[in-house]
Amino acid sequence: MLSDAYSALSTLNSALRFQGIELSLIRQINALATPLSTNLGIGEPNIEPDATFRELAKRAATTSWHYSANAGHTSLRKKLADDPNEICITAGTQEGLFAIFQAYVDPGDEVLVPNPGFVSYATLARICGATPVPYNLEPPDWQIDQLPITSKTKLIVVNSPSNPLGSIINDDKLREIANAGPLVVSDEIYHEIWYDAPPPSMRGLSKNVITVDGLSKSHSMTGLRLGWIHAHPDVMKPIITAHQYIATCASVFSQALAEAVFDAKEWNAQWLDGVRQQFRAQRDAALFAVEREMEVKIPPPRGAFYLFVPSPLCDTLSFAKTLATDAAVLVIPGVAFGSNGEGFVRISYAASIEEVSTGIERIGRWLRSSGR
Ligand SMILES: Cc1ncc(COP(=O)(O)O)c(C=O)c1O
Repeated sequence: MLSDAYSALSTLNSALRFQGIELSLIRQINALATPLSTNLGIGEPNIEPDATFRELAKRAATTSWHYSANAGHTSLRKKLADDPNEICITAGTQEGLFAIFQAYVDPGDEVLVPNPGFVSYATLARICGATPVPYNLEPPDWQIDQLPITSKTKLIVVNSPSNPLGSIINDDKLREIANAGPLVVSDEIYHEIWYDAPPPSMRGLSKNVITVDGLSKSHSMTGLRLGWIHAHPDVMKPIITAHQYIATCASVFSQALAEAVFDAKEWNAQWLDGVRQQFRAQRDAALFAVEREMEVKIPPPRGAFYLFVPSPLCDTLSFAKTLATDAAVLVIPGVAFGSNGEGFVRISYAASIEEVSTGIERIGRWLRSSGR
């Protein structure tokens, strides 16, 4: 029968490029959550829009709902660069990264990814048939020492401030990487979330540099999917083509809201100050609780909203799973971010001071009760 013939042809097998690609460990830990869990595994701000922000959104909803140009409304792109041809608006940074990889990475290429680093980078390389090659970031300051560049290196991925480390790469190193030869993707999604000084950006450091950024983290707009890519117009061309086949264009509502946010300069500056103040208070509460409950002192992270904490147990995946089931607190095992993450857990402080303190106290209580 025809249907048997189809099953013999493995109709339901995923495409080769998706075989072995699975939902991240982060999703697996979050699946263990119960209504009683304190969630310190989250990767999005615990900040709600204020009255002005909601008003901007209402006004944004009154603009046209038709498609925009593939790369986004020119008026928005002009707010992000003098030359709008250097900008492509995307459905979040994640879509931007996917478009860049689709545009530039071939089977057999090598892509340098931070270890520990954000889970997507290595997966995006694998989907293209390329080999992710981890480069080491070493505690306590998590700086880049050597990049294993070879003749096969197509792309170097940099993420500063870093998820999961909260570290910031210094300016000299960024300049060196920009001029190392291969294309560079600098993921700057956390660049507005800093505590001492604004982090240096790679934007414009060389023609090879592509930066990605967006409003998910700075404006708590994770669900509205608004990001952008900056690149030299020649470098941008194939990226816009990829983006056209992935998303057509980013949501025009989110584009209109982004424009309104950038136009409301005074409000926006205050909003960003408020975001940084709130995260600083939550970070300090988390550092205090970690020192008291887990008996470790780590240097305060300089950006983003994560602590990467040495774990009292070596196998951090089973530690995180046990904490989820027995102590009702969710943290992410460091190994989810690469082999150098083993021995650490990521604690997100994108949660209220009360939740951060309660969650870390629960870790402490579990450690004491199990004699660690
Ligand atoms: C380092 C990093 N890059 C990109 C993203 C994706 O963000 P977006 O919501 O803009 O797609 C995240 C989200 O957690 C992230 O941590």
